[in-house]
This record gives sequence, structure tokens and C-alpha cells, in this order.
Amino acid sequence: MAPDFTIFAGLLLAITASASPACKLTPYDPEWPSHAEWASLNSSINGQLLSTVPVASSCWNGIPFASPVNCSTVQSNWANAAWQSRFPEAIDYPIYANNSCLPPNASGYVAGRGCSIGGMPQYIVNATSEEQIATALKWAADRNIRVVVKGTGHDLNGRSSGAFALSIWTYNLRKLERHTSWRNPSTNTSEDVYIVGSGQQWGNLLDLALEQGRVVTTGQDPSVGLGGYIQGGGHGPISRTYGLAASHVLQMRVVTTEGKILVANHAQNQDLYWALRGGGPGLYGVVTEYVIRHRPAPRNVIMGNLLIAPRDDGSNHSAELSWDAAVAHLSELPDLMDAGLAGAAMMAVGESAMSFGSLNHSTTGVVINQVFWSFNSTPAAMEALVNPVLSNITRAAGGNGSITVTFTASNTGRYSSFYSAISGSEVAGGESLVSSRLLGRAELVDTPRHKQKQYLKIAMRAQNTTAGTYATIGLQGGPGVRNTREEDWGALLPAWRSAYLHFISNGAIVDCKAAGSPKRALENAARWNEAKEEMWREWSPSSGAYMNEANPYTSNFKQDFYGSNYDRLVDIKAKYDPSYSLFVLSGVGSDEWDYDLDTGRLCKGN
Ligand SMILES: Cc1cc2nc3c(=O)[nH]c(=O)nc-3n(C[C@H](O)[C@H](O)[C@H](O)COP(=O)(O)OP(=O)(O)OC[C@H]3O[C@@H](n4cnc5c(N)ncnc54)[C@H](O)[C@@H]3O)c2cc1C
Ligand SMILES: *[C@@H]1O[C@H](CO)[C@@H](O)[C@H](O)[C@H]1NC(C)=O
Ligand SMILES: *[C@@H]1O[C@H](CO)[C@@H](O)[C@H](O)[C@H]1NC(C)=O
Ligand SMILES: *[C@@H]1O[C@H](CO)[C@@H](O)[C@H](O)[C@H]1NC(C)=O
Ligand SMILES: *[C@@H]1O[C@H](CO)[C@@H](O)[C@H](O)[C@H]1NC(C)=O
Ligand SMILES: *[C@@H]1O[C@H](CO)[C@@H](O)[C@H](O)[C@H]1NC(C)=O
Ligand SMILES: *[C@@H]1O[C@H](CO)[C@@H](O)[C@H](O)[C@H]1NC(C)=O
Ligand SMILES: *[C@@H]1O[C@H](CO)[C@@H](O)[C@H](O)[C@H]1NC(C)=O
Ligand SMILES: *[C@@H]1O[C@H](CO)[C@@H](O)[C@H](O)[C@H]1NC(C)=O
Ligand SMILES: *[C@@H]1O[C@H](CO)[C@@H](O)[C@H](O)[C@H]1NC(C)=O
Ligand SMILES: *[C@@H]1O[C@H](CO)[C@@H](O)[C@H](O)[C@H]1NC(C)=O
Ligand SMILES: *[C@@H]1O[C@H](CO)[C@@H](O)[C@H](O)[C@H]1NC(C)=O
Repeated sequence: MAPDFTIFAGLLLAITASASPACKLTPYDPEWPSHAEWASLNSSINGQLLSTVPVASSCWNGIPFASPVNCSTVQSNWANAAWQSRFPEAIDYPIYANNSCLPPNASGYVAGRGCSIGGMPQYIVNATSEEQIATALKWAADRNIRVVVKGTGHDLNGRSSGAFALSIWTYNLRKLERHTSWRNPSTNTSEDVYIVGSGQQWGNLLDLALEQGRVVTTGQDPSVGLGGYIQGGGHGPISRTYGLAASHVLQMRVVTTEGKILVANHAQNQDLYWALRGGGPGLYGVVTEYVIRHRPAPRNVIMGNLLIAPRDDGSNHSAELSWDAAVAHLSELPDLMDAGLAGAAMMAVGESAMSFGSLNHSTTGVVINQVFWSFNSTPAAMEALVNPVLSNITRAAGGNGSITVTFTASNTGRYSSFYSAISGSEVAGGESLVSSRLLGRAELVDTPRHKQKQYLKIAMRAQNTTAGTYATIGLQGGPGVRNTREEDWGALLPAWRSAYLHFISNGAIVDCKAAGSPKRALENAARWNEAKEEMWREWSPSSGAYMNEANPYTSNFKQDFYGSNYDRLVDIKAKYDPSYSLFVLSGVGSDEWDYDLDTGRLCKGN
């Protein structure tokens, strides 16, 4: 007998509707839990539930929130990432929380806009135990409530906030211990490790490690947290030498949205362990603890400073040759990195170039400010590597003084002095949308120079050509990353293996006032960035981008951020978060959802 198709289809619909409802709940929905239900959640988690209090609410009259900090303190600290990281709801880029409560004169501030919860989570679990997290996660998943996870709130893509969500705030998971004979379950051998709470910040771990003659895979600023940094990959001053942060994790403890408390390593929950090492933050569960490898601290650090600028005559000729110099410089970096150098560069055009290069004339050229570092070496050794390269750069730029090149190298001493020298910008509160790419020999050496020059000019395009813009170029790939053992690789984007440079380009204007809302400002910037994204795909079709510092609106995010790991990650996501409680922008499976910053609604389908 043929099945009755109408009954069959109806049944299927009913199942789909109850298993994955179209939208996550909002307080405007009748199913939203009552105050009494929230209170009962609160008592089941030792009273650790917070109602969201925007820290900047002290700047607004007649607002029913009691911020613990007065407005002048909020204003003077707003642009500081380390300060923002201390508050339960605060994020570094509040545009992703719809600029719902800004202090006057902050970037994106609109007079009269007021202060509301808006794009911030409704409630926050100030977690102090795994049991609290498990209870809260299951409670939210059972009720179809969106969950977000916040460590520091440093995320560039707004992934640690979300309207109408319950937030798990990990700040108080601050374990910080050395364990010199931790049993590695994959080998049964004993390992010397740090065991660290996921709410910790790298600066604290680095301080402890350096006291003990060790070094760990931090980023460039001490306030960056372990949580999202590791799960997205995590590059920093030692990644050229030792590989990325995700490759240094031997085990995680994880709480899932089904309320399970799991241990993930090479011996159990291997798929989760794999996904959490580079497969994207805020997606698979809440990590509470990491077991981390460490390395010997360098004895001394050599730093070098290289400045390449068009001759200060404002001529088209020296401007054009400065682009040739820039291409020549980038082409030399893979060899320099293989020979032992790491570092970071700023490349600037327009008024930014004038200030970077101390130019008196405006220029249509480009200025490069390159910092190099190397470990356990000497200034003379660094000069021996760099000086021949400078002749090549000068030759590429006509060889007749059209560009100026200056280079100095010196001994910075201990790693702690070096780290203080490179860190500390800790910038927050800005409105920007970057476009980035991982570049290797195929792009920097094998691509014809005239093509590279065309691509570079597009990468450096600024929407405001007078102001110009800058790019940050990290020398963070290379041998340490390439030589990472397969078992330590996890779900890192495969393109990292051949990457040398992480090129982050700015230049898009994000202007909420002009656009009318954060949603439209981001949409406009994303549309303008598409030309850069197309250029990257043409220059480096098989490469990708570092998801933690990239354009979260790129249409190509699956390939660019996850590469060939994507489909497997979708399955792991569905296994550990079947209710899809954990949505993040450009996260695995996020293309099936639409998060509307204007309405705050997170709904399935577009
Ligand atoms: C000042 C500054 C400097 C930076 N420097 C570097 C750098 O040198 N190298 C580099 O690679 N990146 C750097 N970044 C980018 C950094 O990788 C991202 O901002 C990253 O998101 C930081 O992770 P977090 O946990 O501190 O941030 P959060 O905003 O708290 O979290 C980021 C993401 O991770 C998720 N998450 C956090 N904790 C957990 C957890 N315990 N379990 C599950 N999910 C979690 C969140 O849900 C969110 O999706 C920098 C950022 C800033 C603001
Ligand atoms: C949760 O309970 C604690 C302790 O009773 C209380 O201080 C806090 O305000 C409660 N949180 C909420 C959101 O009501
Ligand atoms: C704000 O708080 C700071 C630090 O607590 C204090 O020094 C300052 O006087 C306060 N300012 C005002 C206007 O109350
Ligand atoms: C905002 O900036 C303007 C112009 O700089 C200044 O006059 C005003 O006092 C500032 N407002 C506050 C609240 O700081
Ligand atoms: C977001 O901001 C826009 C205007 O800036 C506003 O119209 C909208 O209601 C806000 N949405 C939320 C969820 O706060
Ligand atoms: C979070 O909980 C800890 C431990 O109970 C407490 O000391 C801290 O004050 C709480 N933070 C907030 C913002 O309530
Ligand atoms: C490690 O030891 C456990 C328990 O003794 C054993 O079951 C497991 O097979 C061992 N694993 C390896 C890789 O030797
Ligand atoms: C120099 O002038 C040529 C011809 O007008 C132009 O195509 C080129 O873009 C200019 N180069 C720079 C760097 O301004
Ligand atoms: C800019 O002008 C000042 C004053 O004339 C001069 O001292 C300086 O050397 C100039 N800078 C460059 C890069 O030529
Ligand atoms: C300089 O350029 C030449 C030609 O491209 C190349 O063969 C040589 O290796 C370069 N020298 C250095 C030190 O990079
Ligand atoms: C360098 O040479 C070019 C021709 O190749 C010439 O146009 C330019 O003026 C020269 N620049 C200097 C500073 O001599
Ligand atoms: C472009 O930048 C210049 C210089 O910084 C500034 O004066 C001008 O207002 C900007 N134009 C726009 C449209 O933002």
C-alpha cells in the first residue's frame, strides 16, 4: 500500500517545528520564561544569575540600571580592551551589541539614542562552577533560548554578545597551575603542563611562565583571553617558532548545551577535542579548562626596525616606486622567516602614510613600518639577514633614491621586556570591518610582481582616500606552524600550513550615524569590502583567512575560515549542540540562520 503522503508530510512538518523552531525566543514571545522561572534558575545555580546592567548606563538619566562605575570613569576607559574585559556584559566592539548603551562621545554614539539592553544578552551567568554552567545551558536549550559565551569580550566579530540571549560569563574560571607530571591520556606518558581556567587572560599565564623560565602561546596583548583565541587558532609572537595556540592544547573540559560535562582529549571525545582546536569559538560548548603545553623562554630577543617610504617629494614617480618596494619587501619575508625572523608590519596609505613615514608631502605611495624579532641571536646576525634584502628592495624601486630605507637592530634583552615593547595597545571601542588573508609563497613569491602590485593596491584601498588607511601584517605563520605535528593540528584551517603572513586590511567606513543603524553601517561596509574579498580569492584561491581577525560577512566564510574541515565540523556541531543554542556570526552552520541586529531576532532561514 502506498503511504498517505499528506499524513506523512504533516508528521514531518510537526517534527521539524518542535525539534528546531524557526526563531530563538525573545522576551516578546509568550513562551519567554517568567520572572519566577528565571528566579528558580537562579536558585539552581547558587544565585549566580545576573540581570544585565550596561556599564555605561551611569551616563544616562532615568535609566533603571545601576552601573557600578560612574560615567567619567566609563568615558575615560571606554577605548581600553583590558578595562572592558572586567565587566559581565561589556564587549570591545559594542556595534555588535547594536551600540545599545554607549557613553557620550564614544565611537558610534548618537545623542538621544538612550541606553537599553537592546543587543546585549538579557541575563548573564557569573559562572564559578561547571555544574552551574551545565544547569544553565540545559535550561536555556530546553526553552529555545539563545546562548552566548563571553570570556573577555575582545571578539572582533561580535561573537561574545547577542540580543535576547543568556550569556555564560567565564571571567571567574581563573585556575592557573603548573602540573609537572600530568598524565597525557594519548600516550600515558607524563607531561609538564599548565592547567588554566578558560576565563584567564594570557598575560597572567605568561607572567607565571616567564617566572619559571617558560613561555606560552599568547597573542600580542596580555588581556586577550584563552577561550576564543585558542578555539579560533591563536597566533602571536612565538607562533612562527612553535606554532599556533590551538596546537598546544592537550585537553579541554567542556560543558555542552545538553548539560553534559565532558573531558576532550586524544583518548575521549576526540571529535570535540579536534573541533575545539581551531574549528571556531563559541560553537560546540563552553570550555571551562585548558591543559596547555609550554616552551623554553628565549634567553634574549633581538628587535629590528625597518622603514620604507617614498622620497618626500610628492612625485608620482617615487610614489609608484614605493609600491614596487612594498611588493619586493613582502616577497622577501618567507625567506627571512625561514631564516629565523618573525615580526609585524604596518603598511599605510594617504594621510596615514604621511604620519607613519613622517612625510611632509601627501603621497599616492605606500609606507611600510616593519618590526622584526628573533630569539637567542644577535643584532649583527639580524643585520646580516636583512641588509642584502634591503639592497634588493632598493633595486626593485629603481635604485636611485626614489625611496628611503632605514634599518636598525638592537638587543631588547629578556622576553618580558620584548613583550612589553610589542604589547599594550589594548584598543577597544572602535568601529571597523576588516578584510584579511593568509598569504604564503604561492602569493608572495610565485605570483608575478606586477600582479602582486595590483592586488596590494586593492588591499590598501581606503573608502576615504584622503584619510587613507593602514594594514597590519603579522609574520605569524612559517616554520613553527608548517611543522606542527598532524596530531596537534586539530581543526585549524589547512591554509595555515603554507601561510607566512596574516594580512589584515582596513579601509571600510563603518558609520552608524550616517547609515542610520549599526546593522546598516555593517552591511554597507561589508558590501564595500566585497571587492577586497574578490581580490583575495583571485590572488590566493586555495588560501583562506584567520577567522578571529577577518570579515565575518564574507560570503565565502565556509571555505575561507574552515576550508576542507567544514562538513565534519557541521556534524560535530550538530552532535554536541543539537538545539543550535550557540549561534555566532560566520560560525559553522550559521548560514542557516539570520541574526537581525535591528530586531535582535535570530531565526532560521533567510
Ligand atoms: C586587543 C586585542 C589584541 C588581539 N591580539 C591578537 C593576537 O595577537 N593574536 C590573535 O590570534 N588574536 C588576537 N586578537 C583577536 C582574538 O583572537 C579575538 O578577539 C578572540 O575572540 C579573543 O578571545 P576571547 O576569549 O578573549 O574573547 P571573547 O570575546 O570573550 O570570546 C570570543 C569568542 O570565543 C567564544 N568563547 C570565549 N570563551 C569561551 C569558552 N570558554 N568556551 C567556548 N567559547 C568561548 C565566545 O563565545 C566568542 O565566540 C586580539 C584582540 C584584541 C581585542
Ligand atoms: C540571583 O540570586 C542572587 C542571590 O539571591 C541575587 O543577589 C541576584 O540578584 C539574583 N539574580 C537575579 C537575576 O535575580
Ligand atoms: C568616579 O569614580 C572615580 C573612581 O572611583 C572617582 O575617582 C571619581 O571622583 C568619580 N567621579 C565622579 C564625577 O563622581
Ligand atoms: C563631547 O564632546 C564635545 C566636543 O568635543 C564636548 O563639548 C562635550 O563636552 C563632550 N560631552 C561629554 C559628555 O563628554
Ligand atoms: C538597534 O538599533 C536601531 C537603531 O540604531 C534600533 O532601531 C533598533 O531597535 C535596535 N535594536 C535592538 C534589538 O536593540
Ligand atoms: C561573580 O561571582 C563572584 C563569586 O561569587 C563574585 O565575587 C563577583 O562579585 C560576582 N560578579 C558580579 C559582577 O556579580
Ligand atoms: C593508557 O593506560 C590505560 C589504562 O591503563 C589503557 O587503557 C590505555 O590503553 C593506555 N593507552 C595507551 C596509549 O597506552
Ligand atoms: C602615477 O601616474 C599614473 C599615470 O597617471 C597612474 O596610472 C598611477 O596610478 C600613478 N601612480 C601612483 C602611485 O599614484
Ligand atoms: C619635513 O619638513 C621638515 C621641516 O622642513 C624637515 O625637517 C623634515 O626633514 C621633513 N621630513 C622629511 C621626511 O623630509
Ligand atoms: C635578491 O633578489 C634576487 C633576484 O630576485 C634573488 O635571487 C636573491 O636571492 C635576493 N637576495 C636576497 C638576500 O633576498
Ligand atoms: C630615478 O630614475 C627615474 C627613471 O628611471 C627618474 O624618473 C627619477 O627621477 C629618478 N629619481 C631620482 C631621485 O633620481
Ligand atoms: C576623509 O578624511 C579626511 C581627512 O582625515 C576628513 O577631513 C574628511 O572629513 C573625511 N571625509 C569623509 C567623507 O569622511
